[in-house]
Amino acid sequence: MFYQSKNISVKQTKVATLLMALFVFISPMSAVALDGSAEIFPVLNKQIHKGVASCAASMCHGSVKEYKQTNIQHNEYITWDKQDVHSRAYNKLFNKDFIAITKKLGLKAPHEEPVCLACHASNVPEKFRGSKFQMSDGIGCETCHGGSENWLKSHTNKKATHAQNLDKGLYPTDNIVSRARLCMSCHYGNKDQFVTHDIMGAGHPRISFELDTFTELQPKHFTQDKDYADRKVAYTTVKAWAIGQAIATESVLAMVLSNKFHAQTLFPELSMFDCHSCHHPMSDKSWQPKKGTGLKPGSVPLNDSSLLMLRHVLAQINKGDGWRFKKKVLALHSASAKDIDAVRQLANEMHVAMPDIISSIEKHVFTATDIKSMTSSILNEGIWGGYNDYVAAEQCVMAISVLTISWDNMKAFDQSLREQIKTELNSMYSLVADDEAYDQLAFRQSLISLRDKLIR
Ligand code: HEC
Ligand code: HEC
Ligand code: HEC
Ligand code: HEC
Repeated sequence: MFYQSKNISVKQTKVATLLMALFVFISPMSAVALDGSAEIFPVLNKQIHKGVASCAASMCHGSVKEYKQTNIQHNEYITWDKQDVHSRAYNKLFNKDFIAITKKLGLKAPHEEPVCLACHASNVPEKFRGSKFQMSDGIGCETCHGGSENWLKSHTNKKATHAQNLDKGLYPTDNIVSRARLCMSCHYGNKDQFVTHDIMGAGHPRISFELDTFTELQPKHFTQDKDYADRKVAYTTVKAWAIGQAIATESVLAMVLSNKFHAQTLFPELSMFDCHSCHHPMSDKSWQPKKGTGLKPGSVPLNDSSLLMLRHVLAQINKGDGWRFKKKVLALHSASAKDIDAVRQLANEMHVAMPDIISSIEKHVFTATDIKSMTSSILNEGIWGGYNDYVAAEQCVMAISVLTISWDNMKAFDQSLREQIKTELNSMYSLVADDEAYDQLAFRQSLISLRDKLIR
């Protein structure tokens, strides 16, 4: 029934190709503005959005072939236009499955409805739409890179530095924290744009995200090689995964603290909870302790999948931080079975700690030892029963594949082991391919099987 099956099968084939990649640079990232609430997203950067046509000339980003000798690919427009779903996002709003949702909700047609346009298009305020701006461009270059009024000229000037372009309104997509916040603004949402349970109830698919996996899937129109690292910020998959989990956690906590989570209503916002704890037949009798929550049968746990993953990152950087975070997550769950004020208080304490957490991850250089240890602790937690809910299992699979790919990039596996791991990963992906057929015991078994091969 859910979109996820389609989604994962793409990832599944990707994993095989990814495992082949053997190229990685490690260097600490620069510090950035850490207050998530201060992030000004490209759509609202108060610069004229000149439209995709302004980027698509063949000398600029519309070359048919990728340039090999230059810093950038020059065929970014073609990649986006032909392969990136973002380019079709607005046009798809006219499809019947989109229209069915707004009809059920009594909203305007999707292409006129601000609620949908916020994430499925580039809903730039009227006065910032340039002469070549077109809604039909969907999620275009400037929706991620920022309205180009002030940087369009300078960004091709060899004398202008990247920092100067950023000052002129280019969005810092190369900064992983800012990039993660940008993706999350649509792939999770925030207090201004969110896929609430009424939208889901009308038929919107469940959404999930993992920064590194989705960066590969988009697909990439940039090459993160040595010259990239010299010009911008070096990218490593593990760090992107870790920061992605931290920003996902930050987003969840910010939503809990917003009035979208719980207004003066009987129920809180259901889409922030584990969907499958409600959505399964009663005859299943499939309840298993969700050990990381301490909750009893019949409870509805908050969707804590990113918090679960973040804990492993923190424990690796600093045992004490990992431990403290784990205690807070448990406390948050037990508060959720009691009262809203206690939930808010805990969420606030955790949210306040996020800037330090994010900067500790940014500063950390993840070594092969770190990767092995995080992989092992995630596998063990799953085997112990930590991911009995589907959403956690799904994040676990994406995490394990990112980690093993990075590990492989450090030349840790020989050909035969690499093949075995690929097979294991593919079977793990197929176990989470259909959320409605998720089998906790089979999943735990597959984690054991991978652990036997990986952690010797
Ligand atoms: C917070 C951002 C957000 C809002 C608001 C939002 N969506 Fe979505 N929607 C998404 C994302 C992200 C996806 C893709 C999920 C994925 O593939 O992982 C999606 C996917 C969909 C899909 C499935 C697309 C496909 O190709 O199968 C439909 C249909 C859809 N949205 C309809 C709507 C409608 C109608 C509205 C307005 C009532 C809306 N959405 C509001 C973020 C949003
Ligand atoms: C969904 C978001 C998104 C969209 C849409 C998007 N980009 Fe990007 N783009 C990124 C990210 C993320 C990066 C990598 C980080 C960086 O280098 O800034 C990037 C990098 C780039 C780079 C830099 C490559 C380098 O080596 O420095 C160019 C050039 C670029 N994009 C052009 C475009 C063009 C042209 C379009 C429209 C046809 C476009 N982008 C659409 C997210 C996006
Ligand atoms: C303006 C909102 C917006 C932003 C920003 C955004 N996305 Fe998306 N993204 C969407 C929507 C909406 C869809 C689903 C489009 C559809 O199916 O019609 C989508 C789809 C995708 C898909 C395809 C998912 C699938 O199931 O096949 C990937 C991958 C993706 N986005 C990655 C990213 C990454 C990585 C970033 C950050 C660099 C990003 N997106 C930023 C709105 C956004
Ligand atoms: C606290 C329990 C609960 C949680 C958590 C929950 N839902 Fe629901 N959901 C419901 C109820 C109750 C209905 C209404 C069922 C009805 O009308 O028959 C519903 C309806 C739906 C429907 C419409 C089904 C239909 O028959 O048309 C969809 C789709 C849906 N939810 C998806 C989700 C997703 C996705 C999540 C997680 C992001 C989620 N729900 C989380 C209780 C929940």
